[in-house]
Amino acid sequence: MKIIRAKDYNDMSRKAANIISAQVIMKPDSVLGLATGATPVGTYKQLIDWYKKGDIDFSEVTTINLDEYRGLPKTHSQSYWYYMHENFFNHVNIPENKIHLPDGSNLNSEAACEEYEEIIRKAGGIDLQLLGIGTDGHIGFNEPGEAFELLTHCVDLTQSTIDSNQKFFGDEEMPRQAYTMGIKSIMQARKVLMIVNGESKADIIERALFGRVTPEVPASVLQMHPDFTIIGDEAAFSKI
Ligand code: GLP
Repeated sequence: MKIIRAKDYNDMSRKAANIISAQVIMKPDSVLGLATGATPVGTYKQLIDWYKKGDIDFSEVTTINLDEYRGLPKTHSQSYWYYMHENFFNHVNIPENKIHLPDGSNLNSEAACEEYEEIIRKAGGIDLQLLGIGTDGHIGFNEPGEAFELLTHCVDLTQSTIDSNQKFFGDEEMPRQAYTMGIKSIMQARKVLMIVNGESKADIIERALFGRVTPEVPASVLQMHPDFTIIGDEAAFSKI
């Protein structure tokens, strides 16, 4: 495990973007596992900026996102498909046919999840997986208590996740289920890069990095990953 301290959110974002861009320079046809949430927005902004300056080329890259709400059409403003296009894909040159997210509009959970694992397999696995972390320690949408050996599957979101994310849906009720890559799918990525900022994540970071490895803290499994890097700002690392 490599722990990289960043001064603040911008510094965290720049450092993460540097690692992703090094990955793409070293292997132009990299398979990038991507994440949503507020944390990676600055990383995507920085990558867009370098792409526009001609410093990085995504034309051979394949992307595989972690998760998607079950039951939301792509065009819904809160779908992760929409988020990824708004915050990243619309601004860089990744070919649309190399962009993958679980199909939230397919209500047949088994088929949707199997199809997604097949996409990961066909791509040859994930070279670099970017991750955020939920305040309860979830990664992707792997909520506390989920078995480590799961591949892509359908989850019931916990109350804590619903409380954190309902605000983005306004008056509309947010979905109660999601499709997510499982812990096993994440652990199979060759490199894992987690980014974390803000005081609200300080407690869970201490438990995830230095506590017991347990499904109750899904991110704790990363202690066992052979190539795991975490970049955090001072607030997120204030308890370690
Ligand atoms: C969501 C996503 C996770 C993300 C987490 C934290 O639940 N499914 O992939 O890591 O939120 O989000 P944020 O970065 O906004 O704190």
